[in-house]
Amino acid sequence: MEKMKKNKKDFLTLLDYSNEEINYLIKLTEDVKKNGDKYCKILKNKNIALLFDKPSTRTRISFEVGINQLGGKCLVLDSKTMQIGRGETYSDTAKIFNSYLDGVIIRTFKQESIETIAANCDIPVINALTDKYHPCQILSDLFTLYENDLLFKEGMKFVYMGDSNNVLSSLLIGFTKLGIDITVGCPQKYEPDKELMDSLKAISKKSGNKIKIINDPILAAKDADVIYTDVWVSMGDEESTQKTYDLKPYQINKNLISSAKKDVKIMHCLPAHRELEITSEVLDSQNSIVWVQAENRLYTQKALLTFLYS
Ligand code: CP
Ligand code: NVA
Repeated sequence: MEKMKKNKKDFLTLLDYSNEEINYLIKLTEDVKKNGDKYCKILKNKNIALLFDKPSTRTRISFEVGINQLGGKCLVLDSKTMQIGRGETYSDTAKIFNSYLDGVIIRTFKQESIETIAANCDIPVINALTDKYHPCQILSDLFTLYENDLLFKEGMKFVYMGDSNNVLSSLLIGFTKLGIDITVGCPQKYEPDKELMDSLKAISKKSGNKIKIINDPILAAKDADVIYTDVWVSMGDEESTQKTYDLKPYQINKNLISSAKKDVKIMHCLPAHRELEITSEVLDSQNSIVWVQAENRLYTQKALLTFLYS
């Protein structure tokens, strides 16, 4: 029997998810984290593939473990050993995924590639990071803030510092959808994607959030409740000594965080390049919540799978 198209839901970008759905996922994560056993049959008889064209530690392991804990089976694929690596198209490959699998989780370069796969199959497709977005990471970030009673705290100042990349784009979407203000501290040269900023205007108008871009790192960090950073060179980007030089003043170090609130929480999606975008002194300090942020990837992704397959 043919699967009904209307039942298919993907997770390609948070732009496709409503404020209500994101809030639901945050609350569902809370229950998944507390009552894991309740969810152990959600993926019974389901085979889900992980296809990674870029390295991964957290995303790959947390999805693999999460699928197992939900009672499903997981296949880890590598495009280099598949016919995609020899030029078979994404759309043809998607039709094959559709024949054998119940879902596919993909980390690749172009957002268009996962969109093509999603458009050519009836099974859920999950974005495990592209050059453009990293929505799974942001679910964990939002949940971690929620768990720390920060997400909906009146006047909470959240600052993202550094390179405007896939993680920042997804943070901007998530915060805007939820109506939460966000400050970006970065050099003028590395400000967020203009097309994305324009598309967020209409959502901001409805949700009431404000996005501030501040080119002075100390001013950006001033009185912050949370400071978040990510690598300066993302996977697939070219190393640039000029960029490292330009971003140096935005490094998360003791001096920078001294202008934030005393109990400022430090976040990083990891992997960290110690002594580049963040010092070990800060990453390993009492203020850092990066390890629980990473652990929460497991629970948020189990909640996402529960949402997609229930
Ligand atoms: N934060 C994150 O996605 O980590 P990995 O690249 O290790 O999956
Ligand atoms: N911006 C980083 C995130 C890694 C999880 C990258 O794309 O490499």
